[in-house]
Amino acid sequence: MDAIEVLKTRRSVRAYRGEPVPRKIIEDVVDCGRLAATAINIQPWEFVVVTDPEALRSIAKTTDYGKFIAYAPVFVVFLCEDTKYYLEDGSAATENILLAARAHGLGSCWVAGDKKPYASQICRLVGAPQGYKLVSLIPIGYPAESLEKPKRPLSDVLHWDKY
Ligand SMILES: Cc1cc2nc3c(=O)[nH]c(=O)nc-3n(C[C@H](O)[C@H](O)[C@H](O)COP(=O)(O)O)c2cc1C
Repeated sequence: MDAIEVLKTRRSVRAYRGEPVPRKIIEDVVDCGRLAATAINIQPWEFVVVTDPEALRSIAKTTDYGKFIAYAPVFVVFLCEDTKYYLEDGSAATENILLAARAHGLGSCWVAGDKKPYASQICRLVGAPQGYKLVSLIPIGYPAESLEKPKRPLSDVLHWDKY
């Protein structure tokens, strides 16, 4: 798949087949997160890859709209140090991970972390040092669903020269 096709066909996937994702592929997906744009190149991120079924379940159950991640073979608990642009940096890296997963034929979904009441509990569960924020949880697995989401057409959102 070329880059434009990856960008245009990525959709959230919340159901996964049972088979595990090879470690090399997980590393490559995380590597794409590591290389995201980041204000003044501060790179405030840390990626905790969770595969232990018990840990998958206990983290998933603290969330509100992310309980399905317990059934992914793996998810990334994505943390950023509390720097000025941590949320912008963290969002850029999260999107890179979603796109890299898509490029590898995997499904994933951005599950909210920042601002959520469960964020600090998840930080504790994964042993994050003080001063780190949960930006997102990113399940990764071979897709067991394919959803076509309605999207606003380009003609609705593209403005030339003025709104
Ligand atoms: C900041 C953010 C937080 C999100 N949180 C959740 C979440 O907690 N649970 C979930 O199932 N999806 C979550 N999503 C995924 C969105 O629901 C999804 O991107 C949106 O419905 C558009 O669908 P698409 O990703 O298939 O294009 C989140 C997305 C973003 C950007």
